[in-house]
Amino acid sequence: MPLAPLGPRRTGHADRRARRSAGSTPFTMSRPVRAALAALAAVSALLAGSVLPVAEAAAATRTLHELASAKGKFFGSATDNSELNDTAYTAVLGSEFGQITPGNSMKWDATEPARGQFTYTRGDAVVDFAGQHGQSVRGHTLVWHSQLPSWVSSLSADQTRSAMETHIANVAGHYQGEVYAWDVVNEPFNEDGTFRSSPFHDAMGKEYITYALRAARAADPDAKLYLNDYNIEGFGAKSNAMYDLVRELKAEGVPLDGVGFQAHLAVQYGFPDRMQENLQRFTDLGLDVAITELDVRMRLPQDAAKYQTQIDYYGRVTQACMAVARCVGITIWDYTDQYSWVPGTFGGEGNACLWDDGLQPKTALLDAVRVALGHTGGDDTEPPSAPGGLRVTGSTSSSVSLAWTASTDDVGVTSYEVYRDGVRVGSASGTAFTNSGLSAATTHSYRVRALDAASNASTQSEAVSATTSSGGTGAGSLKVQYKTSDINATDNTIRMSLQLVNTGSSAQGLSGVEIRYWFADSAGSYTTWCDWAQLGCPSLTHSVAANGSATGADRYLKVIISGGSLAAGASTGEIQLRLHKSDWSNFNEADDYSRGTKAAFADAPTIGLYMNGALAWGTQP
Ligand code: XIL
Repeated sequence: MPLAPLGPRRTGHADRRARRSAGSTPFTMSRPVRAALAALAAVSALLAGSVLPVAEAAAATRTLHELASAKGKFFGSATDNSELNDTAYTAVLGSEFGQITPGNSMKWDATEPARGQFTYTRGDAVVDFAGQHGQSVRGHTLVWHSQLPSWVSSLSADQTRSAMETHIANVAGHYQGEVYAWDVVNEPFNEDGTFRSSPFHDAMGKEYITYALRAARAADPDAKLYLNDYNIEGFGAKSNAMYDLVRELKAEGVPLDGVGFQAHLAVQYGFPDRMQENLQRFTDLGLDVAITELDVRMRLPQDAAKYQTQIDYYGRVTQACMAVARCVGITIWDYTDQYSWVPGTFGGEGNACLWDDGLQPKTALLDAVRVALGHTGGDDTEPPSAPGGLRVTGSTSSSVSLAWTASTDDVGVTSYEVYRDGVRVGSASGTAFTNSGLSAATTHSYRVRALDAASNASTQSEAVSATTSSGGTGAGSLKVQYKTSDINATDNTIRMSLQLVNTGSSAQGLSGVEIRYWFADSAGSYTTWCDWAQLGCPSLTHSVAANGSATGADRYLKVIISGGSLAAGASTGEIQLRLHKSDWSNFNEADDYSRGTKAAFADAPTIGLYMNGALAWGTQP
């Protein structure tokens, strides 16, 4: 059957072809063209009175495509015709991306709905948009089992081959010089790596792929010819099958320039196995690879964990492509949830894109992609996100410990500033901070904000309130007094005399009262002694306990009183205690937190007293 006549050439085709052959690479946007267009747009917007010239800060941040093209790659988006009438949408599509792919308008059902009747209006509109915005176009797609008009499936085997070659000759011929690449064959494989049945495979076996590639090369000798599929991003049966096919085609000299990895990912599935290594093995066969349809969907509603996974996946896909020399670029399958195919295809799923359905950028997602694209700042005017989840992780009578969730930033967070009651009290490089030197039993309000290297500050976090525990001589009715009976600070024994005094106006039960004498030492085991106590040594239990890594206080002598009661104003009288290491080696007591040198009983705020587990006297180290 003779080839159907080529469709009419469109106005502007020759211009764009000339521009392409004039040397601009397919995915490097011409900066002068873009700048001139941007300037024009700005001027006309000003004239129309619709925009104030306030967008300086945003304008200074480099676009995704500028970041990618600085590394010799493109960053693109799918788009569709209905969307091209949405000016808020096209403003971002035309400025942020250096490449576009028509989501539907070059598919078989769009270009040849009836046999031999070719329509290019919608595909042309996408090519025109690209031309006006200095963008390259990926042609998508010539041979695919889906969105295929039913007339194709009713043909005989011979007719099918002829119809396929005619379709390719016409469509690729029409767009010759307009698209830098074609997804010649889309989705040829089943998940298990066998060839997918389709009118093409059923008619010709796997040879249809060879015929299609040859027909495409004949129709547009300059276009890069791709095979494109999903679930081949990582190692697995399907990607192995694609790999074997590519190796075979290359060996046979079939025209093939690249493999497209759709990358329709979902947070509920694991990240593709060794994606970078997988891309690399394909390019090692001597061809390009591209991420052609990236999105990362999730089951709705979104929560923090799903979003975190999504951030991680977007970042890792981008990194994988950046790390592989012949990964030529990344196309997202539309940039906004407003026009994403996901909700219509995967019931209950969505939020898959970098911009939300109100066209607002998702900052943390974009940050992850930008950083993976190599954004290092310099022109950084974007503040980090506000720290989240500020919480109190501990408090003593004189300190409050805080922790929060890390902020994200397009370049990187460098530090956090902590504010107490509106006043900056310190900074942290990590996500935790302890504010010390506070009064006991006092309530404060804390907020935290993040800074990046360019000193852009986030808005402040939500406030959290914290109350220091009572301690010192104030709130508790029991106090600890101490005198040292230990002149030598470097011998093998720590000794002390303690007494408790009831400073309250009523009797105080002593059952369960715990005293802590903190010291620094690293031995494994100790022996403790009560040498004498006016209330009787048998009413005391004593041992040495570990206390983390507190300075001068990683151990403490723990004394628990089993019973009795202390009248208002009364004292327990002297309690003489002593401890040594099991191996009798010497201590260095000079730096011990609780040690004092007074020879007569005096209030001891560095010795702790706990009632029902709560600090009732002293300051915890
Ligand atoms: C999708 C389009 O985005 C939808 O609008 C359409 O209804 C179905 O096809 N893999 C592909 C793309 O290669 O062509 C598909 O695009 C998404 C999956």
